[in-house]
Amino acid sequence: MKTIAIIGLGKWGKNHVRNVVRLHSEKFCDKVVICDADKDRLKKIGDLNNIPKENRYDNLDVMLEKENLSGAILAIPTKIHKEIAIKLLEQCDILCEKPLAPTVEECNEISKKAKEHNRIIQVGHLERYNPVVVTLKSLLEEAKTEDKIMHLTGRRVGPGPKKLDGKNLDSNYLGCGHDFMVHDIDVVNGLLGKIPKRVTATACYIDGFPYEVELFAIFEYEGFKGQETNPILFDCRATWRAYPNLKRRKLIVQTTKDVVTLDFILQSIISEKGLAQHSLSNSFSEYLGAYRATEVTNHYLATGKDQEPLYLEDKDFLSCIVSRKKPLVSDVEGTDAVRCIEAAIEAAKTGKAVEIK
Ligand SMILES: NC(=O)c1ccc[n+]([C@@H]2O[C@H](COP(=O)([O-])OP(=O)(O)OC[C@H]3O[C@@H](n4cnc5c(N)ncnc54)[C@H](O)[C@@H]3O)[C@@H](O)[C@H]2O)c1
Repeated sequence: MKTIAIIGLGKWGKNHVRNVVRLHSEKFCDKVVICDADKDRLKKIGDLNNIPKENRYDNLDVMLEKENLSGAILAIPTKIHKEIAIKLLEQCDILCEKPLAPTVEECNEISKKAKEHNRIIQVGHLERYNPVVVTLKSLLEEAKTEDKIMHLTGRRVGPGPKKLDGKNLDSNYLGCGHDFMVHDIDVVNGLLGKIPKRVTATACYIDGFPYEVELFAIFEYEGFKGQETNPILFDCRATWRAYPNLKRRKLIVQTTKDVVTLDFILQSIISEKGLAQHSLSNSFSEYLGAYRATEVTNHYLATGKDQEPLYLEDKDFLSCIVSRKKPLVSDVEGTDAVRCIEAAIEAAKTGKAVEIK
């Protein structure tokens, strides 16, 4: 009997419930139980998803006593990931939302507990399951021998936890580095197959909130084999300084031959090749013509509910519980992402480059 729990039914956890209920109907698990300390939320999400009343808990300890869990999805505030993850790892495998924990030290404590009990930890870096990222990775791998990544640009803009007036910010939240940038750094670490060596950064703060509301970082990765001293740079901006309806999540990859622009939300990828011709021109229109790209390719991907990144992530978790294989993003990759964010925040605070080890 495979019982899966979702703990935390807030802004994000409710999406896990929808997907796990679907996976249950597709026979990937036998029972779904939900838990939230907020009774109103528990009722609302339970009713919305037709979860039987006996499968709803407002107390984690009671749930752990009554249920024999195979896996648990943690969608609770990041600041309590360690405490709750350690408790759950006694009983089952976990999918912990990103970031794994606020600090590398806490990530390591979670990993230690998993090792002791031979448990799987998956971290909710859902962009890795986004079909655009999967497609980009295979496009880059196909071109690898002749076309190398030189530079990447990440832009993640959105409205943050609550109003940015310094009064209504949710104290459960960390800054936009842990909340937003951690996604892009994990995607780029995955694309390049390594973590950066150093970072420089700048951050913006507002009165009344202790964490950054904007982080701009330049991560430096070692160059490819044979070109180790020729670094790959990744400049990344994560910001909450935006109106509630402004959301942008983009990655631009410049290789030696192409510029590839990826939109995480719209699930689109556009590749542009270089100049049509590179010759001296004698008029402005000839000049513009010469600068037109030789080829612009829209990569149309299948979209729809089977391609929802969170559905694919949850499905992978349920299959890892059975197969015991390492998830695509385990605690190792989750900890690396936190390591990079910690270093970027330190670089912003000190105004100095920080080595990432
Ligand atoms: N992967 C993504 O794209 C993504 C997107 C948003 C949030 N997240 C992550 O999801 C996590 C939750 O974020 P959120 O925005 O949904 O937060 P939220 O504040 O909206 O929801 C958290 C929920 O946890 C419940 N909770 C808190 N302590 C609990 C306890 N001890 N026992 C049971 N329930 C408890 C709260 O009542 C609340 O309903 C965070 O780690 C966040 O970083 C991930």
